[in-house]
Amino acid sequence: MKVIVAVTGASGAVYAQRLLQVLSQHEQVREIAFTMSEQGRMLFAHELGVNLSLKKPDLSSIGINMEKIVAFHPKDLTAPPSSGSSRYSGMVVVPCSTNTLAKIAHGFADDLISRAAQVVLKERRKLLLVTRETPFSLVTLRNMVAVTEAGAVIVDANPGFYHHPKTVQDLVDFVVQRVCDHLGLSVELVPRWELPEKRWVHEA
Ligand SMILES: Cc1cc2nc3c(=O)[nH]c(=O)nc-3n(C[C@H](O)[C@H](O)[C@H](O)COP(=O)(O)O)c2cc1C
Repeated sequence: MKVIVAVTGASGAVYAQRLLQVLSQHEQVREIAFTMSEQGRMLFAHELGVNLSLKKPDLSSIGINMEKIVAFHPKDLTAPPSSGSSRYSGMVVVPCSTNTLAKIAHGFADDLISRAAQVVLKERRKLLLVTRETPFSLVTLRNMVAVTEAGAVIVDANPGFYHHPKTVQDLVDFVVQRVCDHLGLSVELVPRWELPEKRWVHEA
């Protein structure tokens, strides 16, 4: 599987860091095309304490094996993700800013992230948007509806608590596992819901 991972300027760089760790170690993943917006770079620096280059980001500084990663500058519209002929299985925008969501919803393709997203949609491949914002404006909600109607999946960075998380990592892993589920990758990072033996739900 070849996947595109794009980082944009929403809070939640740690979701991208963990997803990249998991994908780069996964046997079903052959190649990861990576790109990040200028604002995504700023958020990475602020939240993870790393100064990455947009052209040649050294992700090993955040614990990621670079073997499968091919990085592209976000302004490079000649990069392979710009074309449907490159045959990526899917794309994850993580975290996905409401700005990038709006561009995707309205068909903009003026940088590599928005162009690659339009390509993934036109080719009917998987587009997962890990949004992070609260509360949502009506504009953002409408943009979410528009991209969902076009075939994308909003995987909001919105962890559950039924797996009894004890660390921030547990919360991050909840979201990353749902992303992997939608990419069709077998990944077990946190326990999945199973009906407790004692059916307390119906006791009353
Ligand atoms: C510290 C900081 C945190 C931000 N957090 C979010 C956020 O969580 N969600 C969001 O949609 N935008 C957030 N923004 C705003 C985006 O960075 C801004 O809309 C930017 O234009 C996004 O650009 P991009 O889509 O090209 O990455 C944040 C901005 C800053 C400076």
